Parts: sequence; structure tokens; C-alpha cells
Amino acid sequence: MYDVYAVREDFPVLKEVVYLDSTATTQTPVPAVEAMVEYFYKYAGNHGRGAHRLAREATNRYEDARETVASFLDAEPSKTVFTKNTTEGINLIANSYPWEAGDHIITTLLEHHSNLLPWLRLQKKGVKVTIISPDSEGKIDISSIEEAFTEKTRLVAITQVSNVFGSIQDVKNITRLAHRNGIRTLIDGAQSAGHMPVSLKDLDCDFFATAGHKGLLGPQGTGVLYIKEPDILDSASVGGGTVSDIEGCNYVLEPSPACFEAGTPNIPGVIALGKAVEYVKKIGVSEIESHEIKLATETAKRLSELEHVEVYGPDDRAGIVPFNVKGLHAHDVALILDQTRKICVRSGHHCAIPIVRFLKVDSTVRASFALYNTEEEVDILVDAVADLKALVS
Ligand SMILES: Cc1ncc(COP(=O)(O)O)c(C=O)c1O
Repeated sequence: MYDVYAVREDFPVLKEVVYLDSTATTQTPVPAVEAMVEYFYKYAGNHGRGAHRLAREATNRYEDARETVASFLDAEPSKTVFTKNTTEGINLIANSYPWEAGDHIITTLLEHHSNLLPWLRLQKKGVKVTIISPDSEGKIDISSIEEAFTEKTRLVAITQVSNVFGSIQDVKNITRLAHRNGIRTLIDGAQSAGHMPVSLKDLDCDFFATAGHKGLLGPQGTGVLYIKEPDILDSASVGGGTVSDIEGCNYVLEPSPACFEAGTPNIPGVIALGKAVEYVKKIGVSEIESHEIKLATETAKRLSELEHVEVYGPDDRAGIVPFNVKGLHAHDVALILDQTRKICVRSGHHCAIPIVRFLKVDSTVRASFALYNTEEEVDILVDAVADLKALVS
């Protein structure tokens, strides 16, 4: 197991706060931030657009980052597209797949709005959407997906880890089942990549969208989209960098990934993401996974022993612990935790209104863990929540 205290030295802000909001976005380690600074000071230039030394250096480092990220996810670099976040990746698929009226998409009530709204919007084009409900712990029964298959089903779009429950879905078997029926799958990996081993070869999904700024520890404004068969898509956005020739009214698009990355990309962000992924890889994603699960399981257990607290989600959770303090609004709890102990947790509907409603509440508090959190921080959170009893009794 790695030395969490040594790791914390690479995240200076952790000396100031108890950061338990890594599901929203993680902190970025010093080597990744330094890589960004180095870009600005030493070789800021555009990507793929120049023969001069700065443009060449920027292009090479950007493409090195693609190799690093693709290898980390066990994917081919040519099928690994940089985006600005998970949401953009999912929208890219929704907007570039050749839908026909009557096509059918299956998704779930668990989804973040990012993996729900792009599909719901397609209803305007005559695409039908079925939303599968999970059980009370946030798990989707594979058979309920199978029961929803029709001859017209083209896609199952599902999250690997719920950002509201922390529940983990069996996306590998869901993909197998879908493929047996000629249906593609899109996996929302926003809460899985960097938090648990992910091999896209092994998962065999058709699309995988994730963030650079969550488990991969990259800066905000970075994301990754894997596309198994780029040729089935039309580019959702075209312009500079996407085209190899134009003659009159005809044009020839570049092959993937260039045809999906229109315009100047987030070059410093992607280069920093590459460094951040190297950092995750060095520590070991399985070790990170065990560490986060241990802290989250301990937190859930101790919080559920408090009479005034309700904890949601399954026992076999990822590093996410949603809860409410009876008689207090989630936003008030979050504000008090911040004001009294500098604890940063998320509160609200977590951009997943349908599934929070399913819990028959309008919001929850969410403590979430990353590689840099400690047992002491669990103690601080549990003690602070225990103290809230005075306000509710
Ligand atoms: C499961 C899930 N999907 C999608 C998103 C959206 O991610 P992004 O902010 O990178 O677009 C999030 C963000 O929290 C998430 O948790």
C-alpha cells in the first residue's frame, strides 16, 4: 500500500481543508500542475498546426499524453479522443450517431443528467427512450435491461459507478448481453476511471466517456472519449484540425481522433492530464481503489450508527457516501461542515434529479474519497456529523 501522507504533499490545498468532494472534481498533483506551467513558459504553441519548434513540441507532448491515457485505459490511441469533460463526450456520441426515427435507447434512472439529457433530447428526432429503475441500493438488475430490448434497440447507455449511490454496475456483462443482441453500449466512466482498474479491451464497450478532472487527477476542462468504431460516426463538430482536403463544396475528414477534435484543444490541460495519469499509474489504481473503498465503507458504517443520520447506497460501494441528517437540509449540513471544520462535501441533487427523487428526498449530502484522503479525515467528518445531533433534537 502506498504512503498516503507522502501523496498528500503533492496536493498542497489538503493542508487547508478536509476535501471530501472528489466525485465532483479531484485535486491535481504538483507534477501535473508543473507540466502545465512548463507548457506556458517554455513551449506554448498550437497543436498539429505548424512546422516551427514550439508547435512541434506542443504537438508531440499532446500526442504523448494521448498514448499515456490510452494505454492506461487499455485502448488504442487512434480511438481515444480528448474532450473538455464527460458531458461533451456523451453529447458527441448522441449528436454524431446515425439515428433513425424509431430507434430505441435504453438508459437508467441512475444517470447523471449528462448521460440522460442527450438521449432524452433525441426524442425530438423520433428516437424512443426507456429508463430502467434500479433497486433501493442503486443497482441495476441486468435482466431488466434485457426485458427492455426491442428489435429497434441501438444503444444501452449506463454509468459504471453511480455518483449518487456509489453503486457499481456490471457493465461488462451488460455489454456482453447487449452485443449478443446486436446492441451497442455507452459506458459513463466519470466515476470509475482512475478509481478502479478499467480495461476497455476487457469491457469491450462501444463508447466510454470519462472526465480528466476526476479519478484521473487532471485539470478541469479535460475529458476522454473512447470510440471503438470511429467510422460509424459523423463528426459532431467540424472545422480546423478535422479536415485533410477541401475542393469546392466537398471535403475529406481526417481519420480519428483528429476528426473529433475540432478547433484548438485544451493543450496545457491535456499535457497535464497525461502527467496526472502517470501519477495515478505509479501509485497503482488497484491500491487506490482499495484505499477509497476502505475509507468509504468505514464512513458509511459509522454514519449509519448515528440515530439522526440516514445513509444511502449498498455495502459494496465505491468511494462515495451519500447521507442526510434528519431535520436538516443537505445544503445547511454542507455549509455547517465547511464553516465549523473546513470540510468540503457536495450537497444537492448531484445533477441527477430523477434518482435523488427516487430516494424521496430533494437532496443529499455526499462525502467522496480519493487516493489522498485519510482515516483522520473520516474521524473529523464523523465527529462533525455526530455533533449536528444538538441541532436536530
Ligand atoms: C456519473 C457521472 N457522469 C457524468 C458526469 C459529468 O461529468 P463532467 O463534469 O466531466 O462532464 C459526472 C459528474 O459528476 C458524473 O458523476
